[in-house]
Amino acid sequence: MNLSILSCAPKCYSTMRLIEAAKQRDHKVKVLNTVRLTIDLADGEPNLFYKDKRIVPPDAILPRIGTSVTRYGTAVVRQFEKMDVYSPNSSAGISYSRDKLRSLQILSRHDIGIPVTAYVDDKRDVQGALERIGGAPVIIKLLEGTQGVGVILADKLEIAKAIVETLHSTNQQVLLQKFVAESKGKDVRAFVIGDHVVAAIRRTAQGQEFRSNVHRGGKAEAIELQPEYARAAVSAAQIMGLHICGVDMLEGANGPQVMEVNSSPGLEGIEGATGLDVAGAIIDYIADQVKFPEIDIRQRLTVSQGYGVADINIPVGSKFVGMSIDKTGLREQDVVVLTLRRGGEVISNPKGSRVLKADDSLLCYGKSEHMKALIPDRPRKRRRKLKPLPSTPVTEGTRA
Ligand SMILES: Nc1ncnc2c1ncn2[C@@H]1O[C@H](COP(=O)(O)OP(=O)(O)O)[C@@H](O)[C@H]1O
Ligand SMILES: [Mg+2]
Repeated sequence: MNLSILSCAPKCYSTMRLIEAAKQRDHKVKVLNTVRLTIDLADGEPNLFYKDKRIVPPDAILPRIGTSVTRYGTAVVRQFEKMDVYSPNSSAGISYSRDKLRSLQILSRHDIGIPVTAYVDDKRDVQGALERIGGAPVIIKLLEGTQGVGVILADKLEIAKAIVETLHSTNQQVLLQKFVAESKGKDVRAFVIGDHVVAAIRRTAQGQEFRSNVHRGGKAEAIELQPEYARAAVSAAQIMGLHICGVDMLEGANGPQVMEVNSSPGLEGIEGATGLDVAGAIIDYIADQVKFPEIDIRQRLTVSQGYGVADINIPVGSKFVGMSIDKTGLREQDVVVLTLRRGGEVISNPKGSRVLKADDSLLCYGKSEHMKALIPDRPRKRRRKLKPLPSTPVTEGTRA
């Protein structure tokens, strides 16, 4: 394949390793300095120029967008998307990952575990929010901090309030977050490629420091990730639209607490600690996707007028509970069941003989009017939480 790596740091470890891995596999690879790509907008064809020359679209791009060029970089990635060039990380996913509030808002709809967090604007609401989080000690975070800068631990409620007020007075927006004390200055970084965790490390803060970032002196060691953590990492990656990313989790008393999803994860720390060829795995994944791209099913299917995709939930007491999919009459109404989500499992192409249970969720494609009739009008009192996806989805045909 023809691969263009978008990076402002062609000589950094990660970029060099990716180039090396691509060359070893006989791919054509070049590094384009993200900020030297120019977006040309006109009716008709979307275009990009590199150093004033129109580019020939590659088969794929690998965006390695630094935090200092997020806005420009994501605009460039969006332009490649418009040109139908494959990118493992979507421009939207990269933008979301750069805003801690937005990421947590997106992740909070899913049952994957995040630290309890509040976002407050008015001074009068700070005390209440701090109390709801569980009081001091509490973490205060800048929305767009990185490498541990902008993450503060406040021991006392009064100090927390003073810090928030001070930051607000300088127009800095902050998140208030429960301090996950049991994680004891440690966090886990899971490197996700596609729907697998390919490598994982635990980072441990040194001395009195509570932040485990390598830039704050944290030490990294390779770990075997527990399935619960792998599932959380893969789910978080998929929810964010990032197929190559680093998912940072705290080890909470009740399991993983996803803190952030990094869309340009560094390779040096993880390859150094694990000895694994992560760069090679990235290149292999992209080459595979170029051959057999994953499509956005919702986007493709809804172009057929009157048809769409919808999640149909089977609540307790539904007439479908205990019925096989064949007996539901969905097929006769021109509705096809694509996946069945049950607990932590996703069953693709479920057989007609499969019997439905309460709390199942069916991802269906079909006539929108028929599907609408199946979705209850009344908002449910308790919002249904989506269950985590397994790292390897189960396909009905392959099940025993
Ligand atoms: N809620 C929390 N509880 C305990 N430790 C935390 C919490 N949030 C962050 N930390 C520690 O601070 C570090 C940096 O926080 P993070 O949100 O990842 O910011 P950054 O983007 O700057 O890395 C984490 O790696 C972790 O060690
Ligand atoms: Mg971090």
